[in-house]
Amino acid sequence: MRLRWAGGVLLSVAAAYYIYSPLPSDVNGPWKLMILDALFRSFIHVGDMAHALGICHSVHVLNSVVSWAEVIEARSSPTVHVTDSAFGGVPSRVFQPVGGGAKLRRGVVYFHGGGWALLTGRMRSYDVLCRRMAEELDAVIVSVDYRLAPEAVFPDQFHDALAASRAFLSSEVLQHYRVDPARVGVSGDSAGGNLAAAVAQQMSADDSLSVKFRIQALIYPVLQALDLNTPSYQQNKNVPILHRHLMARFWLLYLGANPSLLPHLLSSPSSLLHPPIPPSIRAYVNWTALIPAKHQKHYRHIAMETGSGEVKEVVPGLLDIRAAPLLAEQSVLSRTPQAYVMTCEFDVLRDDGLMYARRLQDAGIRVTSDHYDDGFHGCMAFAYWPFWFKVGKRSLDNYIHWLDHNL
Ligand SMILES: *[C@@H]1O[C@H](CO)[C@@H](O)[C@H](O)[C@H]1NC(C)=O
Repeated sequence: MRLRWAGGVLLSVAAAYYIYSPLPSDVNGPWKLMILDALFRSFIHVGDMAHALGICHSVHVLNSVVSWAEVIEARSSPTVHVTDSAFGGVPSRVFQPVGGGAKLRRGVVYFHGGGWALLTGRMRSYDVLCRRMAEELDAVIVSVDYRLAPEAVFPDQFHDALAASRAFLSSEVLQHYRVDPARVGVSGDSAGGNLAAAVAQQMSADDSLSVKFRIQALIYPVLQALDLNTPSYQQNKNVPILHRHLMARFWLLYLGANPSLLPHLLSSPSSLLHPPIPPSIRAYVNWTALIPAKHQKHYRHIAMETGSGEVKEVVPGLLDIRAAPLLAEQSVLSRTPQAYVMTCEFDVLRDDGLMYARRLQDAGIRVTSDHYDDGFHGCMAFAYWPFWFKVGKRSLDNYIHWLDHNL
């Protein structure tokens, strides 16, 4: 009996230790976030174990959990007609408001997040998001299921995102869905925000296109991998749900690079993974110049030259603006559409977003920078039961409000 007691206490302590992670005091809903993080981490650990045992890729374990728990069928409601379709050969779910007569509608092409490797636009949380957008904006929403890593690597995801966007903006498709060509936007969260920014750049530079996106709405986007030691990467390296080493893993996976390069990417001599970086490009990720002083705090640049030994492998994607839209020249940025950039204080990607907002502004683009002092990475997806966060609802409301006024 006493042994069982002791075992029970030990197990509870172990569970508490596993669940507990020190969180910043200002983050919204710290206890809920801790449990969410423990869940997420345990799936990652199981995935890594399966991977190490040679059963399957760790990403597949996570995606199986997602499809089992989160993926839902296309279900129409009295107000929104939902169908599975394809644009440019890329599977996509379409949310169309019911009724409305002959008036042309607005449209949004949306890319889901998940580190270019996880999740799908057919998940419950994206279903909730797209339905709300369709209803409240009276807009046609296209949730694009681009291919994922490890089967697909850069530039496949980008090409799918671009192909779906171009196909949706064709006059036949716009007519079919009765969408106003002058009022279509592109949007996405996290890795989807990366794709949205990259596609927006590419399409605005393409003079052969007669229809262009009117706005780009980027939700805690990931935009560069040259410096994984920005103040937000340093400050939030262990903050749920996107830990710094996990983001680095996603980058290597996306760029089809050897996972053994992880320490090199993290110690920030990312320059070692590429031939010398010209000063002009370094200036594009120079956060001393690009983010407000209040976010720089006491953090210092970790020299790009420091690092452990020579690296033989080169990862060209690191400098490709289709993978890292923050590295685009001003002349590219100056042609992109009006922008909304959401950032969260407790997110390693905060400074990617802040730097991009500033660079767009410097290029003459109208930018709304929407920052959440109590937000964490992914919070906008947690506006509903069972993981309900006030900052999730607040950010979602503001995002839709912005779209309503600017699209
Ligand atoms: C970054 O910006 C600061 C402040 O404007 C400047 O002093 C520094 O030389 C810049 N560094 C690089 C690598 O461009």
